[in-house]
Amino acid sequence: MIDSFRTLFGSADGVRVFRAPGRVNLIGEHTDYNMGFVLPVALQLATTIAAAPARDGKLRIYSEHQREMREWNAAEIGCLERAGHWSDYPIGVARELARAGYATRPANLLIRSSVPEGSGLSSSAALEVSAALAFLRGRAMDPLDLARLCQRAEVTFVGMPCGIMDQYVSIFGRANSAVAIDCRSLEHRYVDLPSGIAFLAVNSMVKHALAGSAYRKRVEECAAAVERLRQRFAGVESLRDVTPQQLDAVELPGVIGRRARHVVTENARVERFIEASASGDLAAMGKLLVESHRSLRYDYEVSCAELDFLVDAALSVEGVYGSRMTGGGFGGCTVTMLSPTAIPRFREEIARAYQCEFHVAPAFYECQPSAGAGEFPVA
Ligand code: GLA
Repeated sequence: MIDSFRTLFGSADGVRVFRAPGRVNLIGEHTDYNMGFVLPVALQLATTIAAAPARDGKLRIYSEHQREMREWNAAEIGCLERAGHWSDYPIGVARELARAGYATRPANLLIRSSVPEGSGLSSSAALEVSAALAFLRGRAMDPLDLARLCQRAEVTFVGMPCGIMDQYVSIFGRANSAVAIDCRSLEHRYVDLPSGIAFLAVNSMVKHALAGSAYRKRVEECAAAVERLRQRFAGVESLRDVTPQQLDAVELPGVIGRRARHVVTENARVERFIEASASGDLAAMGKLLVESHRSLRYDYEVSCAELDFLVDAALSVEGVYGSRMTGGGFGGCTVTMLSPTAIPRFREEIARAYQCEFHVAPAFYECQPSAGAGEFPVA
């Protein structure tokens, strides 16, 4: 990467390299912006940025994936507006950093990523967090503040009203552990997963156009549900505060009711999944994954034909405990919990079935829980 950097910018003097991982969410989907619980793991798939100071007052960013170089005056980053471009992610982060007192220093950046874009494995957060580290260049910042700053960049600059999960786990991820995050207190604990299982993500290779607007709509529908519930139950500030009994007692209308039911039951599933994991009850874990998928499919309506097919096909393979869509939905990946010895057969059967049905080859990623973002020592 440093050789590429030198070729691109003419010199690699002072280069430092930063990495931030993508994630796969095991369970707890569309609960983060409802102040609930999530259980993601950071992946080995990551975005890496090589960065060195520039002497001409410019900020230059080259994306290998986009094969494009962009350039700004570093002193003007704080007043930039959204451009509807891939560079909105790093620039949004630089702008938030500048507003938080970390002025953008002139620099050259080279971005390389192994997180497939549009896969639901959080290529956006990996880019935001790695960019933040590259801009900070060792200037100290509290990791939780950093996660919130990156989320803010995505909400306010990119314009996607996302929750905190992706940025949080990209920073706090740990090898061999899942990260149980309470999205209200913003505290986490590490969850050891039982031995003898693996998680495999399967990329449907589709990204439906309505993903962004549908996400925003879900956020609004949840807010509408809270508004109604609050009239009946004092103290309800988010769907996190609602019990299944309260939900039954109120009978929210159609769509709003289904959205709320997903969130309320999904929060409960995260806790049950962690308990089942602690007691090594693999069958119960698998069942909860499938329940989560059904709830996302029928109540939250964020799945699609390709994801449903991948989940159903996975469940017919021997050695599979459970499977569900992961991430925002409308395409992207499923995550499947299975016995490690079943992986070769699983890949073969799923690839064949998916190709015949949708005429596309799915991609597979082994989800080995990995460390969160940091700097690579450069020799
Ligand atoms: C996207 C968002 C997250 C989260 C998931 C759904 O990945 O960025 O904050 O809401 O969707 O669980």
